[in-house]
Amino acid sequence: MADVAVLGLGNMGASVARALLADGRSVAVWNRTAKRCGPLADEGAEVAPSANDAALSAPAIIASVLDYRALQQALADPLDMSGRTVINLTWGTTDEARELAEFVSARGGGYVEGGVLCRPEAIGRTDGDILYSGPSEAVEEVRPLLNTLGPIHYVGSDVTQANALALALGSIFYAGVLSFLEAAAYAERLGIPPEVVAPLVRIPLGLVGSTADASVDQIKRQDFAGSEASNAVHAAALASVTQAFSAAGIEHRLTDAVGTYFDSAAKMGLDALEVGALLRIISKTAV
Ligand SMILES: NC(=O)c1ccc[n+]([C@@H]2O[C@H](COP(=O)([O-])OP(=O)(O)OC[C@H]3O[C@@H](n4cnc5c(N)ncnc54)[C@H](OP(=O)(O)O)[C@@H]3O)[C@@H](O)[C@H]2O)c1
Repeated sequence: MADVAVLGLGNMGASVARALLADGRSVAVWNRTAKRCGPLADEGAEVAPSANDAALSAPAIIASVLDYRALQQALADPLDMSGRTVINLTWGTTDEARELAEFVSARGGGYVEGGVLCRPEAIGRTDGDILYSGPSEAVEEVRPLLNTLGPIHYVGSDVTQANALALALGSIFYAGVLSFLEAAAYAERLGIPPEVVAPLVRIPLGLVGSTADASVDQIKRQDFAGSEASNAVHAAALASVTQAFSAAGIEHRLTDAVGTYFDSAAKMGLDALEVGALLRIISKTAV
């Protein structure tokens, strides 16, 4: 009997298996394409011939495959999961999380949903951030294993919560990375290399955090008047960014898209308010 089984040895699953091995756990592994198991076997993992065999060989099963369909296919054979807990780190929607939790529960198993918010290299480190949701007893059952992977961010007993928040925060990640690439392309045209831009990214990201905090306060009060920066000021600043990117001959689709929100704000008479007021446009509650 292994301490834990890892299903899926792609970039993320392999990192998970390695972190567990490094922490002294006995690990059973399975991957659809067997050749990916070789390096993990060399590092001490026990290779299972099927997902079901792997799942039956441990009380905890950590899954990280492409999508939920792949995981349901892998675990399709009838399987008694009583006494086992599935920790699903596969990225997906809230409906998929609910369905998979029911699938596991119908087979007698416990279920913890995980929303991974880090790169594979961060697994096992203090920046290996993962959101978890599901019954607290199920989370407590596997807490020592989760601790091995990185900080545990428990977001609630409803299994869908980890995915809901991971999807919401994922949109910030994707917009942020693309925004960095637009910034790096512009800077490079002006002879400033990307390695100068990358460490400075933390400054605007910190501003995003403090502006989000201020917006939360305004949303609670439903009062977006303030003395920091009006939407008119933001719109003018953003127009200079767009103009500069355009003159440098780079794509600036992201800044263009953001500009459409400020255009709407001006049309709706929200330009004297602070940026949190754009929530009315996004939520379609603006009159
Ligand atoms: N990489 C990241 O930075 C990151 C961050 C957050 C979340 N995630 C999530 O973690 C999950 C895994 O990502 P990854 O980066 O490890 O992907 P990856 O390197 O492409 O690996 C994909 C894994 O899924 C397996 N797979 C694909 N289709 C399958 C099927 N039909 N049946 C069984 N197994 C199947 C692959 O097996 P084969 O080897 O046989 O193809 C492989 O083990 C995804 O849901 C991803 O969104 C990744």
